[in-house]
Amino acid sequence: MKVTVVGAGAVGASCAEYIAMKNFASEVVLLDIKEGYAEGKAMDLMQTASLMGFDTKITGSTNDYSKTANSDVVVITSGIPRKPGMTREELIGINAGIVKTVATNLLEHSPNTIFIVVSNPMDTMTYLVHKATGLPKNRIIGMGGALDSARFKYRLAEALGAPISDVDGMVIGGHSDVGMVPLIGHATRNSVKVSEFLSEEQMSWVVEETKVGGATLTKLLGTSAWYAPGAAVSSMVQAIACDQKKMFPCSTMLDGEYGLSDICIGAPVILGKDGIEKIVEIELSDAEKAKMAESADGVRKTNALL
Ligand code: LAC
Repeated sequence: MKVTVVGAGAVGASCAEYIAMKNFASEVVLLDIKEGYAEGKAMDLMQTASLMGFDTKITGSTNDYSKTANSDVVVITSGIPRKPGMTREELIGINAGIVKTVATNLLEHSPNTIFIVVSNPMDTMTYLVHKATGLPKNRIIGMGGALDSARFKYRLAEALGAPISDVDGMVIGGHSDVGMVPLIGHATRNSVKVSEFLSEEQMSWVVEETKVGGATLTKLLGTSAWYAPGAAVSSMVQAIACDQKKMFPCSTMLDGEYGLSDICIGAPVILGKDGIEKIVEIELSDAEKAKMAESADGVRKTNALL
C-alpha cells in the first residue's frame, strides 16, 4: 500500500506519522511546494522509526508528482488553515484553486487512486474534486465526520465522567461550526442511550462544544488543529488498506440518500478496499432530518462560490 499525503504542514505530517505508526502501509510520500520542507519532515519522521517500531518508508518531495506515482490512496491537506475568528468557509478563495491543481496532478500519476480530502471548506473541496476529476463517487472521500465524531466522543466522555472506550456516537452533516449534526439521540454508553445519564442541559453542552470543536482549538492554538485530524485520516486510510468494511461518517457524494443529491456532505459510509463501498441510511428523527437539510443548505451556499 502506497499512500501520498499532499501538504507537509502540521495536518499532513500528523497523517504521515500516524499512518506510519500503525505500520500497515509500505510507503508514505509527503509532498509540499515549500522547497525541502516535505523532505525534512519525512527525514525527521524516519528517524523515529527505530524508536517507534515501524517499517513504513516515508519519503518527501518538493512538488515532484512523479514520486507519487501509483499511490493507492492520496490525501489532500493542501491550502491554508483558518486563523482564530475565521470560518472554514472563508478559506474557499485560496484553497479551491490549490485543491483543483493538486487533485489533477495526483490523478495524472495515480489513475486508480482513492482520494481523501481534508482541505477546508472540506465538503465543498470534496465536491470540487468530484467535478475536477469526474471519478466515481466511491473513490472520493471527505474527512470530517470521522474527526467530528472523535471530538463528540471526547465531549461525551467528559460529560459522562466515563472513559472514551465506554462511549459511542456519530456526527453527520457538514463539517462546519453551524452545520454539524451530532446525533446525540443515538449516542450510547455501553449500548445505553446517553439520555439515561445526562440532563438535557448536559446534552446540549456536548452538542454545542462538538460543533465548535475546531474553532475552540483554533482559538487556543492560533491555527487549526492537527493531531485529531491526522489520526482521523490514518484510521480512514487503514480501513481502506486493510479492507476493514468499517463505518465512518464521511463527506460523500449523495444521490438521493437522506433526500439529498449532487452534494458532498457527512453521512455514514462503509470504508473498504474500494473506498466508499456503501452509504448507510439510518433512521433520523424529524428534528435530525431538519438539521441535516439546513446543513445541506449551508454547504450548497459554499459550493455556489466555486
Ligand atoms: C478541524 C479542521 C481540520 O476541524 O477542519 O480541526
